[in-house]
Amino acid sequence: MNSDERLLDYREVTIANRMTGEHIVHGFTASLRRGEVLGIVGESGSGKSITCRSILGILPRGFDITEGTAEVLGQDLRNLSAKGWLSIRGVRVGAVFQDPGSYLNPSIRVGPQIAEPLRVRRGLKRGEAKERVLDLFASVHLADPADLYQRYSYELSGGMLQRILIAGALALEPEVLIADEATTALDVTVQAEILDLLEELKEKTGVALVVVSHDLAVVGRLCDRILVMRHGQIIDQGSTRQVLFEPAHEYTRLLVSEHQVYGLDRFLAAERSAG
Ligand SMILES: Nc1ncnc2c1ncn2[C@@H]1O[C@H](COP(=O)(O)OP(=O)(O)OP(=O)(O)O)[C@@H](O)[C@H]1O
Ligand SMILES: [Mg+2]
Repeated sequence: MNSDERLLDYREVTIANRMTGEHIVHGFTASLRRGEVLGIVGESGSGKSITCRSILGILPRGFDITEGTAEVLGQDLRNLSAKGWLSIRGVRVGAVFQDPGSYLNPSIRVGPQIAEPLRVRRGLKRGEAKERVLDLFASVHLADPADLYQRYSYELSGGMLQRILIAGALALEPEVLIADEATTALDVTVQAEILDLLEELKEKTGVALVVVSHDLAVVGRLCDRILVMRHGQIIDQGSTRQVLFEPAHEYTRLLVSEHQVYGLDRFLAAERSAG
């Protein structure tokens, strides 16, 4: 680990599609420190998910980091072995995505699916792993964990499934949690509940977050710092207040003005009256 505790440290990173030679992400420089919440916003196709996937070592076939240095928890991603990835992905760096239902096997009860990594990675016995999962379910405010443990994913709502996946992502106590459009598929009320939950978990566990959303109100609510991406590059960045109140870049101003339609105005009003 670097002395300044950078959990993520990307410098001038290019991610390319080797088949086409296309640079999907380029000149990407960013870091994440302990306890920090970093937001990444930008239009569809700007490279937000590809950047996250590089952190998790799950780039699409043919995609690679081709330039720059990329470190996660002090490890050089460009020279990380398959075994090295096993100790990072899902263990020290957790992730939740859009469409939680698709990450659970519909033919296996949800509890044992969340318990599995605890048994495999931590060597817990079946009963111990179950106890731990029930605690995790309670910590993400799922009512009646014991009942839920026995359910199948198709019996549960999107909001419940996302809580279950967040519980699963936190099971091995990661240092970093990546939330890529984790609330996008949920209705607005549930979205707000999940954002509150992430905030609470961050306070409680100290996990650092990377929050990706095309919704500025979402990142405004949760993040300390924001990166604005466009066409694979960071075109603007700063503290959440700077980016949302005093956007330096024309494109960010446009994003902010568009998002007033979606509730950023309410966030800004609350911020103004608070500060
Ligand atoms: N599996 C893939 N195969 C080929 N190209 C891909 C793949 N996934 C993403 N891309 C390309 O990489 C670029 C960046 O995509 P990415 O998914 O990172 O965008 P994004 O910012 O996450 O967009 P969104 O807001 O829609 O999720 C896009 O041009 C996209 O077409
Ligand atoms: Mg995406």
